Amino acid sequence: MQKPAPFPEILARIHRSASTPTYVYFERTIRKQVERLRAALDHVPSRLLYAMKANSHPRVMKLFLEQGVGVDAVSPGELLLALRVGFSPESVLFSANNMTDAEMHFAQSQGALLNIGELSRLEAYGEAYPGSKVCARLNPEVGAGHHAHVITAGADSKFGIPVRKMPEIQATCRQYDLELVGLHQHIGSGIPDPATLWKAVSVMLDAARACPALTFVNLGGGLGVPYEPESAPLDLLDFSAQFGEAMQAYSGEHGAEIWFEPGRFFVAESGVLLVTVTTVKDNGDRCFAGVDSGMGHLVRPAMYGSYHEIVNLTNPSGVPRIYDVVGNICETGDRFARDRSIPEIREGDCLAILDTGAYGISMASEYNLRPLPAEVWVPEDNPARFRTITERRSPAQMVAELMRRSLD
Ligand code: LLP
Repeated sequence: MQKPAPFPEILARIHRSASTPTYVYFERTIRKQVERLRAALDHVPSRLLYAMKANSHPRVMKLFLEQGVGVDAVSPGELLLALRVGFSPESVLFSANNMTDAEMHFAQSQGALLNIGELSRLEAYGEAYPGSKVCARLNPEVGAGHHAHVITAGADSKFGIPVRKMPEIQATCRQYDLELVGLHQHIGSGIPDPATLWKAVSVMLDAARACPALTFVNLGGGLGVPYEPESAPLDLLDFSAQFGEAMQAYSGEHGAEIWFEPGRFFVAESGVLLVTVTTVKDNGDRCFAGVDSGMGHLVRPAMYGSYHEIVNLTNPSGVPRIYDVVGNICETGDRFARDRSIPEIREGDCLAILDTGAYGISMASEYNLRPLPAEVWVPEDNPARFRTITERRSPAQMVAELMRRSLD
């Protein structure tokens, strides 16, 4: 069984008009995901932020702005972009990792709240800005994620201040008169089992009870999406049944909000990467379908072994065969899928690589000097009125830019 592509007839039209490689984003899916999470939290005083690292296209960002969602920004570049798009500084939480002095001063000057995950940085912040409000990123010592590379809490993780060091955090805050208004965690990405998230949440709520001045507890992102045909979507009703009561109770006792800051959950399923098959090579024991894109444009399969459904848009009723779908980059790991059953693939066919709205374009590079894909936006009210939101550069434009930037 295959996952179906969203709006296949619209995708086919985009393929004809915009050629490939092209990322396509469906506005409707993003809106639906925000509504789903809001509905699951409707009985909890809560606030949503968007982890913009998942996809920071200004059009995508504007949709979150319109919906009253704030932003998790992790670098000066992300902070600047969020402000340029129109987010107020108060709606941005700045969570840079290994924060430099310059980054700290910059975020402070822009008016964003700093989320600090190292005791030495908290100390430096207190010295520079005594009397300020601050948020502390904790490591609740429970981590989870779809791959070891994306588990961001626990003993192996560089992130956050171990929760057992809460007394030191409070002492530093007292020393510099810092007002600890928030506690934050992000334990990992694509968390397969919400029960692990729940363990971390209860650690956080216990820690929060010891901090009377908190106005929020930020429980991070990490909510998974069903990439594989047989995986079920996250059961948000169950999620709110399990966590809702405890969050509500904490919030009721202390008057603090519960924040979440997902990236993937909001945008992954909104995105499709359209590619064209340039080469079908049947080597007898393996049949390769080579396409006009590669790991530079979507690195998740090469980097984490991630699964993305691949649909043959041009020949949907072809007889299925087993393929390796491979990219055009000079590395053997440049493979979108291995041993995948797909309706017969012919040269010239258009393939849709699904669920690529998160960590697709935002992790893309021009490796092998292949220009980045174009991007197309499909509006909710009239999907037929899709429009290009990023032009694909030609190799000549890309090289001209490279030469312009070179100081040699
Ligand atoms: N908050 C913080 C502080 C984060 O570092 C992240 C993601 C998020 C929120 C959002 O996590 P999400 O809801 O998207 O799971 N490149 C990997 C994912 C890395 C996530 C890094 N941090 C992937 O493609 O699976």
